[in-house]
Amino acid sequence: MAISKERVIVLKILQRVLEEKAFLSPLLLYYLKNLSNEKRKFIQKLVFSCVKNIIRIDYIIKNFYRKDFSKLEPFVRTSLRAAIAELIILRRKPYAVCDSWTEIVKRKNIGAGKLINAILRNILRKGVPEFKEEWIKYSIPKWLFKKLKREYGFEFALNFSKWFHSQPPYYFRIICEKVNEEKIREEVENAYLKKGYFLSRLSFPPYCYKSFHHPWEVNLREEIYYVQDFSSQTVMHSFCTENIRNVWDMTSAPGGKSLYLSFLLKNKVKIIATEIRKGRGKVLNENFKKFKVDGKVIITDATQFLPRKEFDFIIIDAPCSGLGTIRKKPEILLRMKPDKICEISKIQERLLENGIKSLKKKGILLYITCTITPEENEKLTEKIASRFGLTIIEPCVPEFLKKIKYFFCNGFEADSDFIFGCILRK
Ligand SMILES: C[S@@+](CC[C@H](N)C(=O)[O-])C[C@H]1O[C@@H](n2cnc3c(N)ncnc32)[C@H](O)[C@@H]1O
Repeated sequence: MAISKERVIVLKILQRVLEEKAFLSPLLLYYLKNLSNEKRKFIQKLVFSCVKNIIRIDYIIKNFYRKDFSKLEPFVRTSLRAAIAELIILRRKPYAVCDSWTEIVKRKNIGAGKLINAILRNILRKGVPEFKEEWIKYSIPKWLFKKLKREYGFEFALNFSKWFHSQPPYYFRIICEKVNEEKIREEVENAYLKKGYFLSRLSFPPYCYKSFHHPWEVNLREEIYYVQDFSSQTVMHSFCTENIRNVWDMTSAPGGKSLYLSFLLKNKVKIIATEIRKGRGKVLNENFKKFKVDGKVIITDATQFLPRKEFDFIIIDAPCSGLGTIRKKPEILLRMKPDKICEISKIQERLLENGIKSLKKKGILLYITCTITPEENEKLTEKIASRFGLTIIEPCVPEFLKKIKYFFCNGFEADSDFIFGCILRK
């Protein structure tokens, strides 16, 4: 039997993500580069299904394999997980799936091939168990499901879990000037129309489009769009005012927030952008050049770096637990733990403390995270505001983007990532 090349790629990617803590997006980018659309979709779907359902899959395995699962060779364990994702989650043709995965494993280890075959056929014969616990059903770590229930109630925890399993659309914004806006819109809309792909033009934020097809699928010119989630566009659009002149974007790569600000203010704003990671700083630099941002990139630790001048606007789009982006980056859930959230929150506090030193009197600090834990959001900003005598300004945004005095984009209501924003005035 011929080996399925796509499944071998799936195995390579999953093994790196599940066994070696690698990130999903760069691996997908690398392996899918030269493949047809159909093959890309096959691989992406299977990889995501496996990672997003890993807790449930492992519970299914425990029902059918009584020995210590962690003692299996990593490639055998990963193949079994992928095969179950294909059988149970994607419901692909059962015997083709069993034969294909058995063959892949058999080529490396005949005994393990037999074991996989036996487990998969047993699952097919007996059917999978139903799990009563929501956290297993939705593959959300138990500590997180409990935390969400405790902080925001059962309904939120359930909606969050369902949102995690829904398919994220692509959002992008067009890059245009007043004089060519209509022309660019026509170009974008015609490109999607020609392929027969759904494209939605949003009225807010004003340059935003939504589709389940990436702009590269319709061959859009790179210089006329920037892929950016609805939540990120909205938070910047809501806080961008004409009188901003000097900006420090403290944790800036790849530059999405600065690019939006500069675009709206017609590149008339001067930006200092700091970033701790060299590789990400390089991408940031390229983006600034490409989109003609009047900015300077400095690779440094923004918890320590002190610029020579003061700023009227500071952005901290903080490193965070990223729970609001797990729909696109499900591997976050494999690694996030409560004590890690505490650690991250300490870094965020140090970024805030340092940023405040460089903020002009009456200047604005916009603190953003793409997560939902109070430790990184409300609790932290309240603590900082009272310690430094800053005022938290209530955002002037539509009600659905507000939570008490904060900006809050709710992912399952907006069909986007989650974003939290707090405006602090000195
Ligand atoms: C959420 S991302 C920023 C995204 C960016 N604002 C955008 O919209 O494209 C956070 C960034 O902060 C960087 N970072 C983390 N700790 C930092 C520190 N101490 N100093 C500077 N940058 C830091 C990370 O490497 C990461 O690139």
